[in-house]
Amino acid sequence: GGVGIAAIQIAKWLGAEIFATAGSDEKRDFLRLLGVDHVFDSRSLAFADEILAQTQQQGVDVVLNSLAGEAINRNFRVLKPFGRFLELGKRDFYENTKVGLRPFRNNISYFGIDADQLMQVRPELTRSLFAELMALFVEGVLHPLPYHVFAAEDIVDAFRYMQQARQIGKIIVTYRNGISLVHALAPPRQQHLQLAPEATFLVTGGLSGFGLRTAQWLVGLGTRHLVLISRSGAEAVAAQEAVADMQAQGVTVWARACDVTQADALAALLAEMADGLPPLKGIVHAATVIEDGLVRTMDAGQLQRVLAPKVLGAQYLHELTQSLPLAYFILFSSATTLFGNPGQGNYVAANASLEALAQHRRSLGLPATCVRWGAIDDVGFLARNEKLKAALQSRMGGSAIQSAVALDVLASLLLNDRSGLGVMELDWNALARFLPSADSPKFSELARSAGQGDGDDVSADDIQRTLAELSDADLLATLIDMLKSEVGEILRIAPDKIDATRSIYEMGLDSLMGVELVVALESRFGTRLPVMALSQSPTITKLAERIIVQLKGYEDQDLVTEAQTALAQTQQLAAQHGSEESAAFISDLVAETQARPLGGQDRMIP
Ligand SMILES: NC(=O)c1ccc[n+]([C@@H]2O[C@H](COP(=O)([O-])OP(=O)(O)OC[C@H]3O[C@@H](n4cnc5c(N)ncnc54)[C@H](OP(=O)(O)O)[C@@H]3O)[C@@H](O)[C@H]2O)c1
Repeated sequence: GGVGIAAIQIAKWLGAEIFATAGSDEKRDFLRLLGVDHVFDSRSLAFADEILAQTQQQGVDVVLNSLAGEAINRNFRVLKPFGRFLELGKRDFYENTKVGLRPFRNNISYFGIDADQLMQVRPELTRSLFAELMALFVEGVLHPLPYHVFAAEDIVDAFRYMQQARQIGKIIVTYRNGISLVHALAPPRQQHLQLAPEATFLVTGGLSGFGLRTAQWLVGLGTRHLVLISRSGAEAVAAQEAVADMQAQGVTVWARACDVTQADALAALLAEMADGLPPLKGIVHAATVIEDGLVRTMDAGQLQRVLAPKVLGAQYLHELTQSLPLAYFILFSSATTLFGNPGQGNYVAANASLEALAQHRRSLGLPATCVRWGAIDDVGFLARNEKLKAALQSRMGGSAIQSAVALDVLASLLLNDRSGLGVMELDWNALARFLPSADSPKFSELARSAGQGDGDDVSADDIQRTLAELSDADLLATLIDMLKSEVGEILRIAPDKIDATRSIYEMGLDSLMGVELVVALESRFGTRLPVMALSQSPTITKLAERIIVQLKGYEDQDLVTEAQTALAQTQQLAAQHGSEESAAFISDLVAETQARPLGGQDRMIP
């Protein structure tokens, strides 16, 4: 194994005579190639006697053990007086295996070794040990371990390979290929999705928004029996009209008030359906509750209300229908699980659970199709909240998609039996500006194909040259132009329409966009800029002046105003997410945040 090979390198460096065991002929040959003096079989306990025989019953000075059970006792037997026993295996620790004290009469020492704990509890020691090791690599004494690489998409093969215990050295799973930009869907056997009329579909959240639109789409595909549920039932006029319209087309529609988080109510409904309708063949789980908020201030209720319909609802649907021969089990998740989304910790977690359930069902051979939808334009939560939709769109860059387009994609996912894919329109560069998770290696292919970094952005070096070459007035004009283009990009306004003396907040910049602007300016100018810089200098001209001061290295802005504006900003952000926090709480939060340097993920937490 990897640890054994590393240990052999160290032992050779120390000039030790090495006795090693391995479990297969191939691995034993490999040990001989490494120059190990004595090689034995770890699958038989005879190795202990053989070692004693080869050492004239003296044994060895150090045993490095990762074998379990009786092999431990054998290893004690081959340890010389004053010898050291280094235990690397974990199994016997957790199984609390009993060890007799007899071997200890020989002045031996026993060391339990857990490198994870070493790193956590003794970071200083870890650092110095690593420094020693790295020096040995530089000197050429130590060499990287042999390894076998699997691409992330071949993860199943990687586990199979490990299961067979065939590897020498380490198994590495890489994201070298990133997540492929285009998932080539194989041509489906059947070209058009056609649903059987003598079957029933259940749609949760099916009396409003995207759930209701999906129900109408099911009718278009041939469904003649629908059960649509929500907690409030068909109370809304729009729901009643839609149901009447479907009934007019000859569809049997049960519109019921049923809370999907109540297992009893759901079971009763399913029983009633079994009596009164054709067999249940498909489920669309679209029920959702959205209650955004700062993770810091999210209370148990807010978490529960958002998690329950997705986590519990999906689980109950899964459990209560396992014995039925379903053809479709469709779960509506969100593209936010791919990248995260500030202010939606509870919603992202709720959706992630749907993806896990879909994988679990598929591993059981049960149907499951989970789709990570991007923003839907014409129906649903975002269509009702235009401002939120605009904010999300500016973050993702692309447009929200029409429900008809989304449902076409759903049809092809069902025909191809694909699950877990994201369906959205996005502009990678816009998204990457806002979400640090975009830097993750798994998105490298997307980033590459979006040409990230190849743009005509002025580099930090160019900025330094500009600073040195231009007069103050020209420098200010240049910076104002750059800022206009950054702000224009975020607000989707042509730069030449932007008035540099007007407050950017009046132009429509909200606090999340403010964070985006700061991230963009930091990467463009290579300088750290507090978010409150925007409140202190809310016009482009003032902001440009501030950046010049900062770039020229004589920043001494007064910190009192900075703290005050931070307070105002945080209050605004909290209010935007619907949480009313006490002034004392917010002032603590601001003090805590200011005590830490802004960096990476931290910026996104608000
Ligand atoms: N709209 C989008 O842009 C978008 C984007 C990505 C993903 N999605 C996903 O698409 C699905 C539909 O979203 P939407 O925008 O159409 O939402 P929506 O308009 O707010 O509809 C949600 C529905 O769920 C029902 N519901 C909530 N809790 C329930 C419960 N415990 N039991 C039964 N029904 C419950 C609600 O009705 P009651 O309040 O009466 O219960 C409502 O009818 C969601 O899963 C969402 O995550 C939507």
